[in-house]
Amino acid sequence: MQRRTFLLKTLYSVMAIGLARRAHAQITDHSAHGAMAHHESNEEAIQSASSQSLDLRRLRSGEALLAPLPLVINKTLTPMRHEVQLHVQPASIMYTRDQVSTQMWRYVGDTSGNMLDVLEGDTLKITVHNHLSEPTTVHWHGLPVPADQDGHPKDAIAPRGTRVYEFTLPQGSAGTYWYHPHPHQRTSAQVAMGLAAPIVVRSPRDPLQTAGITEHVLMFTSLQLDAQAQISAHSMDEMMNGREGNVLLVNDQYQPMLMVQPNSTHRLRLINATSARYLRLSLGGLPMTPVGSDGGLLEKSLPIQTEILLAPSERMEVCVTFPDGMVELQALPYDKGWMDMGMSGMKPTAQTVDVMMIHTQGAKAQSANLPQRLRPIEALPAATVVRQMVLTEHMQMSMDHGQHSMVMDFMINGQKHDVNRIDFVAKQGQVEQWDIINQTDMDHVFHIHGDHFQVVSVEEKGKVTPATHLGWKDSVNTRAGQTVRIKIRQNQKGIRMYHCHVLEHEDLGMMGQYDVQ
Ligand code: C2O
Ligand code: CU
Ligand code: CU
Repeated sequence: MQRRTFLLKTLYSVMAIGLARRAHAQITDHSAHGAMAHHESNEEAIQSASSQSLDLRRLRSGEALLAPLPLVINKTLTPMRHEVQLHVQPASIMYTRDQVSTQMWRYVGDTSGNMLDVLEGDTLKITVHNHLSEPTTVHWHGLPVPADQDGHPKDAIAPRGTRVYEFTLPQGSAGTYWYHPHPHQRTSAQVAMGLAAPIVVRSPRDPLQTAGITEHVLMFTSLQLDAQAQISAHSMDEMMNGREGNVLLVNDQYQPMLMVQPNSTHRLRLINATSARYLRLSLGGLPMTPVGSDGGLLEKSLPIQTEILLAPSERMEVCVTFPDGMVELQALPYDKGWMDMGMSGMKPTAQTVDVMMIHTQGAKAQSANLPQRLRPIEALPAATVVRQMVLTEHMQMSMDHGQHSMVMDFMINGQKHDVNRIDFVAKQGQVEQWDIINQTDMDHVFHIHGDHFQVVSVEEKGKVTPATHLGWKDSVNTRAGQTVRIKIRQNQKGIRMYHCHVLEHEDLGMMGQYDVQ
């Protein structure tokens, strides 16, 4: 394996930053990171990185927003069994006006759609065909599926292989989810190639659906496209901070347009399916009423907000009434503690980005009255076990045969992920409290597989802020220096992973797994 080389100039700026952060600097080429190994690392290539990225004016925009196409759909009130085929395959997608298509990887169902739009109680039997030349798995992010159907990296589908996933959606699981690959150390690379798809699980007792509120699934993904409109390999900066991408898409469209009736109320199911891009979403100050989070509806709708922060992998459901005219859905700047090695000099989320335009047309509609109570949620009882999850980072430069290299490690409780190590054992049905302690210099979004958790409090600089509402989460953001306390109860046995959902950090080791017995 070839080691990465850096010019001294770059090295010194890295070391200076490393010292300032009291972090060691370590860089290495991990054999698993094929993308990194192929990345150009000479100074010239680095300095011209921004000029090598796509001129965004070449992208098609302003087209009508399309709803994701379903692979399975059940909009009745009776549970069904679905048996379908899903292909993980290369695809050419045309994002530009100038007929240059982007080579990507896609989930393509036998209906050509890939969204799962299902009802609680439905059974899914999905045969996944891997047409890639590397192993993959499918993880049903947030769905409480049995551990052996969860897409664990050890359950990889070999190239040209097939695997059947089968599970039944339990009562109470209604919500907005998504699925994505979870192979050993290749998750960020595969998601960067375009693998992600939405899931909606419905309940026969959804008060917003009963009130007849129109809904839209908005799944956000991002791509890093070069001047040839092709997906770039990860840079060092991107491994460290996570890929934010230069092209932010909604339902795979660049700056589409949604037409609605003036004064009509809509439920937006927002999914952050990017690898590492924090989305601070705004509708130009228009009030949004949060009604749901990762694990479905909240107990009650929350006070209106004019901004929504969606960390990678998080979902949020909001209701919005659109006034006559036009509003822009934008992603506002968000500082997650970007570690700049002075190589790209560019922080993608330092600017406001237009995501989607909403225009009103037609007759004035009657705005909806949102029900106050959305569904009963019981607070989890007192925890009998308390665990600490300490997030740390470690970077170290080394000199090897006259070449500089760097290893980046992201850890939980001082250890990098080992696919063969079980970090601890927990009891099925037992309530645990986890204190997620972020001792790094940047945000990390902590995700747990299996059942959902409830956020108890957030502590920062000694000040503890208890959670203000009840809802089910599977991912929670932690800012540098914060401690986030959660309560979780796993209701099924088996091995469950937990990790940072900045997927590059997951691949670099910020992941663990435990056995629920
Ligand atoms: Cu989206 Cu291991 O998770
Ligand atoms: Cu997950
Ligand atoms: Cu992270």
